[in-house]
Amino acid sequence: MQPEKSLTDTEFIALRDFIYKKTGILFSERNRYLLDARTREILSQARDKNAVSYIRSLCGPGGDPLEVNRLINKVTITETSFFRDPHQIAALTKNVIPEVAARHEQFGSRLLRIWSAGSSSGEEAYTVAILLAEHLKGRLSDWNITIFATDINEDAIEACKAGVYKPYTLRNVPRDLQEKYFLATSDGRFAVRDEIKRLVFAERSSLTDPAACKKYSGVDLILLRNVLIYFTTDAKTAVLQSCYENLRDNGYLFLGQSETAFGINHSFKLVTFVNAFAYKKPLPR
Ligand SMILES: C[S@@+](CC[C@H](N)C(=O)[O-])C[C@H]1O[C@@H](n2cnc3c(N)ncnc32)[C@H](O)[C@@H]1O
Repeated sequence: MQPEKSLTDTEFIALRDFIYKKTGILFSERNRYLLDARTREILSQARDKNAVSYIRSLCGPGGDPLEVNRLINKVTITETSFFRDPHQIAALTKNVIPEVAARHEQFGSRLLRIWSAGSSSGEEAYTVAILLAEHLKGRLSDWNITIFATDINEDAIEACKAGVYKPYTLRNVPRDLQEKYFLATSDGRFAVRDEIKRLVFAERSSLTDPAACKKYSGVDLILLRNVLIYFTTDAKTAVLQSCYENLRDNGYLFLGQSETAFGINHSFKLVTFVNAFAYKKPLPR
């Protein structure tokens, strides 16, 4: 049997640089095997099976945006689930959502905007929608709520829009909430109920496009969890700055528990909860 062909150094660099420019994700030498594995099928179908000419064909004037999307869909890591981090869920439930909702009520505004940035297939956005529904009890319809769910991966965004999930991704959803906010489908999956689904607005958008990110401004809460892991410091700096600008005063940013803005963005105030932390945009002095 022929051994699987690996990327040459030149091919690896061409692919790595193209993906970095498009996404902010940098495949380091350490992750080379991952890029190799994830692009093998695409390259085996490319005209001359060579990554350098494949990239050239994507960049040229006749470059096919659908092929660019196909490559991005292959190389992005979209792992996610509902109620993924119990400590952050507790902080959102006990601290952040009550605080943000009370602030709006105090000023007579019931317009709430939230951004799940790098939302993958939407489990994170729908989780926040469920937490809001629980906090606001029967008053959800008195509020004007939009949860933006954005991702660079088109397949993930389509899955978010569909809002139908395999049981495994619901494994951490408490039974009572599962019964309340999901409908079992005939093929053994779970569909998010309409009252939750209508709160989430999903669209494909890249975090490395600051102009596109401006659309999600005036938000009270940003979830940017497990997205920056593969970004370079430059890309992280730019994305965190966009988040800062998009947040309202006193708004919160949650990163993944293993991620940090430390040494990258000095404008946020670190806030700690029980076994969790977030970044808050302080009031201007
Ligand atoms: C591991 S998932 C995290 C999903 C969710 N936030 C969570 O923590 O469960 C990372 C997501 O970030 C997305 N992503 C990576 N680079 C991106 C970019 N430049 N713009 C928008 N989304 C991006 C990927 O497509 C992927 O769906």
